[in-house]
Amino acid sequence: MAYETITVETRGRVGLITLNRPKALNALNGQVLSELLAATKAYDADPEISAMVLTGSEKAFAAGADIKEMQSKSYLDMYLGDLFSGWEEFTRIRKPIIAAVAGYALGGGCELAMMCDFIIAADTAKFGQPEITLGVIPGMGGSQRLTRFVGKSKAMDMCLTGRMMDAAEAERCGLVSRVVPAGELVDEALKAAEKIASFSLPAVMMAKEAVNRSYETTLAEGLRFERRVFHSLFAFEDQKEGMAAFSEKRKPDFRNR
Ligand code: HXC
Repeated sequence: MAYETITVETRGRVGLITLNRPKALNALNGQVLSELLAATKAYDADPEISAMVLTGSEKAFAAGADIKEMQSKSYLDMYLGDLFSGWEEFTRIRKPIIAAVAGYALGGGCELAMMCDFIIAADTAKFGQPEITLGVIPGMGGSQRLTRFVGKSKAMDMCLTGRMMDAAEAERCGLVSRVVPAGELVDEALKAAEKIASFSLPAVMMAKEAVNRSYETTLAEGLRFERRVFHSLFAFEDQKEGMAAFSEKRKPDFRNR
């Protein structure tokens, strides 16, 4: 499929998706959403792919939802069109997606990065929820996901003042998993994705599902879910292979089954 607002490259078992609206600092409009959903769903369904990396440009991962697209909309437009609800589909992708963030990740850009499974940041990354400066509030999960990532005090600070957080602060408060030099960002993210892709795909997908479950349920239910999923992995050949390889002091040869 030919895309206009993203580029897509396959590297081994990893899909690399790059947001590509440089003139608008990768602002997220309806076309970006539909192309991103098409690309991630295609990779999700592709048995040759185990993980994805989503990145932007050196200057901006994404500077937010497209303000010019939203500007003139009425409440009725927003309500009937259920604006931004389409992004929930992105969170239903089952294979891991790493956000590789350089430059601005603001508003919807920060929210999109948080919808991925983890964030690797360049030392140039800047995160923020500046919607308050536009007379609105976050609308793609910022008030909810950011609070779960960084706690109430910092989430309030970000959402109420609209200030930006640099990469070091984002790592300190748990928004990002690691910070790397800007020039190495995509390579580092690809390396992490390749590492994930070297493991058993069903185990990888179940690990994603289990961690995500912790956001949606009580500890007791989450622990029960984890244990059941853990038990179910003993139905796969890859569990036998992984444990045999450990005992035989060799590298496992996972077959994703
Ligand atoms: C549409 C955008 C945009 C956006 C930047 N551009 N961000 N277009 N939507 N979110 C466009 C600019 O209009 C400009 O186009 C071009 O990209 C370059 O941007 P500049 O502002 O000239 O660049 P710079 O001076 O380097 O400043 C970078 C910036 C600034 C600090 C990131 O662009 C900025 O503050 N952007 C808006 C950030 C923001 O408020 N995001 C939240 C959006 S609301 P032209 O044509 O003039 O060259 C949101 C909430 C979703 O995401 C849900 C709630 C409703």
